Amino acid sequence: MSSIILENISLTYPVYGADARSFKTTLLNMATGGRLDKESGKISVEALSNVSLQLEKGDRLAILGHNGAGKSTLLKVIAQIYTPTKGSIHVNGNANCLFDIMMGMDHELNGYENILLRGLILGLSKNESKKLIPEVEEFAELGDFMKMPTKTYSSGMKLRLAYGIITSIRSEILLVDEIVNVGDPGFMEKAKGRMQGLVHRSDIMVLSTHDLVLIREFCNKALWLEQGKVKCLGNVDKVLKIYRDSEKNPHNLPTPTISLVNAE
Ligand SMILES: Nc1ncnc2c1ncn2[C@@H]1O[C@H](COP(=O)(O)OP(=O)(O)OP(=O)(O)O)[C@@H](O)[C@H]1O
Ligand SMILES: [Mg+2]
Repeated sequence: MSSIILENISLTYPVYGADARSFKTTLLNMATGGRLDKESGKISVEALSNVSLQLEKGDRLAILGHNGAGKSTLLKVIAQIYTPTKGSIHVNGNANCLFDIMMGMDHELNGYENILLRGLILGLSKNESKKLIPEVEEFAELGDFMKMPTKTYSSGMKLRLAYGIITSIRSEILLVDEIVNVGDPGFMEKAKGRMQGLVHRSDIMVLSTHDLVLIREFCNKALWLEQGKVKCLGNVDKVLKIYRDSEKNPHNLPTPTISLVNAE
């Protein structure tokens, strides 16, 4: 049975090459970014702090929060791309990550070859990868361009192919960092339908997005992160209500956690 359990996860990025002496500004009440720490002249960013979370089959979790709140970092921890600095993580089920969907494409190869390549990278056999071709071809609507090297594609054409490939892979856990904008409005509708199919076929989905409409459409739970900390976690409607109310109230600024006033 698929499940994700995170217990008191923290993750700190060490930052090399930043001059700690230049941190003279008081950055109180900044909503963006993780928590900046300056210890013995070294700068680090605390991107996640004590995050606990339990998801099981049927859960569709939205992660929301300001830029730099830690959403992508949390997805990468769940994908086990990053090891947390503290805490423990247990993931049951194989994960498909829709992060950098262009990753792994070779632009000297044509559309068909790129489908096979990506399938192999994702651990499918050659035969399994070949089976993806008709579906991706039908979705991407690139016609004879499928026989051309992808370096001859426009950026929208590359996205169509990459999105078609990545959404043709079935997995128990689906991790999505922002649903990509795949071009013209008509095609976006088709892309959304395809995403819905993928979501329904997966046991658990975790989606990071700023789009509250998408969250309502796809998710039953939400996690609001603020400077790497859990501000609110639970039923999607309840969390969205609290989030929206706080955005309407300009006095309700986040707790100030950055204080570099005395840094020389
Ligand atoms: N490689 C890195 N090195 C140092 N700091 C990083 C690195 N990646 C992210 N950060 C920092 O970690 C914090 C969380 O970043 P993250 O990318 O997880 O935010 P996010 O919520 O996904 O933001 P966005 O909405 O802009 O995508 C930010 O303060 C960011 O500056
Ligand atoms: Mg992000």
